Amino acid sequence: AAHAPARGPLAGAHLLVTAGPTHEPIDPVRYLANRSSGQQGFAIAGALAALGGRVTLVAGPVALPTPAGVTRIDVETAREMAAAVDAALPADAAVMVAAVADWRVETAAQKIKKGDAAPAPTLALVENPDILATLSRSPRRPRLVVGFAAETERVIEHATAKQRRKGCDWIVANDVSGDVMGGDANAVDLVTADGVEHWPRAPKGAVAERLAHRIADALKD
Ligand code: CTP
Ligand code: CA
Repeated sequence: AAHAPARGPLAGAHLLVTAGPTHEPIDPVRYLANRSSGQQGFAIAGALAALGGRVTLVAGPVALPTPAGVTRIDVETAREMAAAVDAALPADAAVMVAAVADWRVETAAQKIKKGDAAPAPTLALVENPDILATLSRSPRRPRLVVGFAAETERVIEHATAKQRRKGCDWIVANDVSGDVMGGDANAVDLVTADGVEHWPRAPKGAVAERLAHRIADALKD
């Protein structure tokens, strides 16, 4: 079908967003997961599309509708997410909101059985690739790379250290000690080269719109 040309400050730009948790299989019927609902990342993808951007949303397993105008790629594991991000390049900006599992499990080919008086199994964990750090150092790095930092204490300090370690341009410092994960509102601090901006607690949709406008402004220069 013919599409009307996109309008808005992000017309002509390709924006890449990751969102949601990843699931790391333990065996064919079990997995490791986390409490990310995908809401904040989906809202950001929708807000970027609403500004006229072409948006690719790489989504972990979540129960959310695809925002209008967004191309969605569903993945399950961190490694699948890494591959989908790579396949979606080039992009003008990337916003990595996903709560990527830090570790995967050495997966058993068959369902692990309780057995007769067998000891409880232990899970051997293997570190997953860091998608944000890899992208930040890639020769195909987007012009603007934005990370999220989920922290429960010393939020700004940890987030600033993360931004340096991972080599992203901005990091959205997110205090997840309360009801943020799975909740409707978010309070964040935006850490950029210019300093730290505190954004008061607001619905995730409002945080998304504010960030989308900031990204549009940054890509203009
Ligand atoms: N991230 C990623 N790939 C990973 C882990 C994290 O792309 N394997 C990204 C997240 O999407 C987020 C940022 O890195 O944008 C920070 O994630 P976070 O979990 O807060 O940081 P970690 O470096 O994993 O540190 P820790 O969980 O130990 O605090
Ligand atoms: Ca992590």
